[in-house]
Amino acid sequence: MHGGIEFEVNATGHGIGAEISGIDLSEPLGEEAFDRIHAAWLEHLVLIFRDQRLSDADLKAFSRRFGELDQVPGWEPFAPAGHPEILVVSNVTEDGTPIGVLGDGEAAWHTDMAYIELPPAASLLYALEIPDSGGETSFMNMYAALDSLPDELREAVRGKQLNHDASHDSGGNLRPNHRPFADVTSAPGVRHPLVRTHPQTGRPALFLGRRLHAWVVGERLSDSESLLDRLWEHCEQGDFVYRHRWRPGDLLMWDNRVTMHRRDPFDGGQRRVMHRTQLRGREPVVAAAEV
Ligand code: OGA
Ligand code: MN
Repeated sequence: MHGGIEFEVNATGHGIGAEISGIDLSEPLGEEAFDRIHAAWLEHLVLIFRDQRLSDADLKAFSRRFGELDQVPGWEPFAPAGHPEILVVSNVTEDGTPIGVLGDGEAAWHTDMAYIELPPAASLLYALEIPDSGGETSFMNMYAALDSLPDELREAVRGKQLNHDASHDSGGNLRPNHRPFADVTSAPGVRHPLVRTHPQTGRPALFLGRRLHAWVVGERLSDSESLLDRLWEHCEQGDFVYRHRWRPGDLLMWDNRVTMHRRDPFDGGQRRVMHRTQLRGREPVVAAAEV
């Protein structure tokens, strides 16, 4: 393996994701190789690199090829020493203190940090320790979710915005420094169009963020809930999902602007340790004028 250009790109066959094989990402990556990887990422939305041996410095160096790294305030306790740009995603505790976030429970479908003005463009998740079973991560293609919407739903989302609650995490728990609210029409957060256009590909995609505490801005609560239920039912029944069974040494990179992901729960008696970087969302993602 090397950082050259003779690697293969093979689609998963599930409507999202491709595995790139024959490349060692701890080696410096030439321009041409980078360009091919970047193009494959825009095309397949999720890239899978198996059998890597990456130090935290390697992970940051590869991530940085795609843009500026994001550092989330409040997550400092969950960064490996000397690497504030990395977030540990883990159920492991040391001396009673969690070393990372997300525990061992299910993480419901979500886009990372959809509740901020400029959500990260990408997340890169590198597996160090993996339980024998469980903890699989699934990815959904939100271009395909929009493309396959029935006309009536396509009409219903046209021009609408969603409020993305900022006060709960993907496990549904209230975040520190947030208060409960009466109903979702007063949830704190930011608004994004339900349909957003990818800044590089120019293609429109459905942007749902997460189901819990979402609100279709301006709609009565019951109307908002019913529209969201129909959209989510459509997404969950679609065949544009790839489910990844992790092995140590896997690096996955997803386009956070046009995908959602979820994680299966796993046995909390086992260790799961991942290191994650995120790329800062730079360009505002404009709403599609027409769906
Ligand atoms: C994340 C995330 C899922 C997983 O890191 O953003 O949702 O499988 N992780 O750990
Ligand atoms: Mn996530």
